[in-house]
Amino acid sequence: MKLVLVSGIQPTGRLHIGNYLGALKNFVELQNSGKYQCYFFIADLHALTENPDPDELHKNILSLAADFLAVGLNPKKSTIFQQSQVKVLQELKWILSPLVPVSELTRMTAFKEKITQKLNHKDEQETTKEEFDKIVEESNMGLAEYPVLMAADILIYDGQFVPVGNDQLQHLELARTIARKFNKKFGKTFVEPQPLMTLTPRIMSLKNPEKKMSKSQPESCLFIDDSPETIKEKIARATTDSGSEIIYNPKTKPGISNLLDIYAAISGKEIHEISKEFSGEKYSKFKNRLAEVMSDHFAVFRETKKKLLTSEKKLKTVLSAGSKKAAKVANKKIIEVKKKIGVVL
Ligand code: ADP
Ligand code: TRP
Repeated sequence: MKLVLVSGIQPTGRLHIGNYLGALKNFVELQNSGKYQCYFFIADLHALTENPDPDELHKNILSLAADFLAVGLNPKKSTIFQQSQVKVLQELKWILSPLVPVSELTRMTAFKEKITQKLNHKDEQETTKEEFDKIVEESNMGLAEYPVLMAADILIYDGQFVPVGNDQLQHLELARTIARKFNKKFGKTFVEPQPLMTLTPRIMSLKNPEKKMSKSQPESCLFIDDSPETIKEKIARATTDSGSEIIYNPKTKPGISNLLDIYAAISGKEIHEISKEFSGEKYSKFKNRLAEVMSDHFAVFRETKKKLLTSEKKLKTVLSAGSKKAAKVANKKIIEVKKKIGVVL
């Protein structure tokens, strides 16, 4: 039996180089290794926590489906699907919810970051306890429950491995805790899932290399479908550090180190090789070369994605076939779970 691997990405906008190097590139490699039974999905229910505009969400779902296929995910090798089409997922989420204290959810880093974003504080400014309690009360319930749905996403397919970037580790730890608690109370039912990370699990923002690159800050992102001109412009404007040497030191030179990480991961070269290659050169020469490497790397992807977006029907067919396959597995698991908790008469 193959090992089961599960991961999802939210359809909340175009994918950036962090999503690619932290997750998507790994999805393709793991799929092609032939060692895993892979489930890759579009986390549209998670995206609802941002209250998206329906037309925008619709467009983003199709765009992410095109990203998945254009990058090399293959419906013949992996189950590629839309989260919301697996109806029993929400039953499992509800069954797992009573095992999770609310305080554990409001302590999650991703939750805190999401709700404090609304305060528009400067980075160094701390949110006071009173302010925090107030925004927790006002925050939408979906944001707080987000990690329970994510646990259900993984546990319903008996996922053993979950390829993600390092911002998702806390959520994954919660999924493990939930699995453990359920198993203790009702008998062995779920596998405790393990994260799988790449060598670049946290690509930093182009504008502020102290912060993670994130779709919620589009101006800080290098998108994988950006045109060669845009890539060149964005990299040229990326924040670099004082001094002019191209050396790797994330503490003292976070800007250039982040670009070196991107360069190394895309080109397959070692960081020390790259800094040697550019020793004595100006930042601008290194940045121009990185822009070329990045543009070339995604040239085929850009073309394939463009073509796929013109055939919505194909994208919908792939998702609907994948969703049916995933639902079959999930429907079986939910019966096992419901028997365990005593609701099957
Ligand atoms: P974002 O945070 O940009 O909205 P998602 O939450 O949809 O992106 O993340 C999709 C996947 O990409 C997840 O596995 C996540 O851990 C990974 N990821 C997101 N941002 C980064 C980053 N800056 N560096 C590495 N991986 C990332
Ligand atoms: N929370 C993940 C993110 O923001 C997306 C996601 C939802 C996910 N469910 C998942 C990732 C299950 C891995 C497994 O990136």
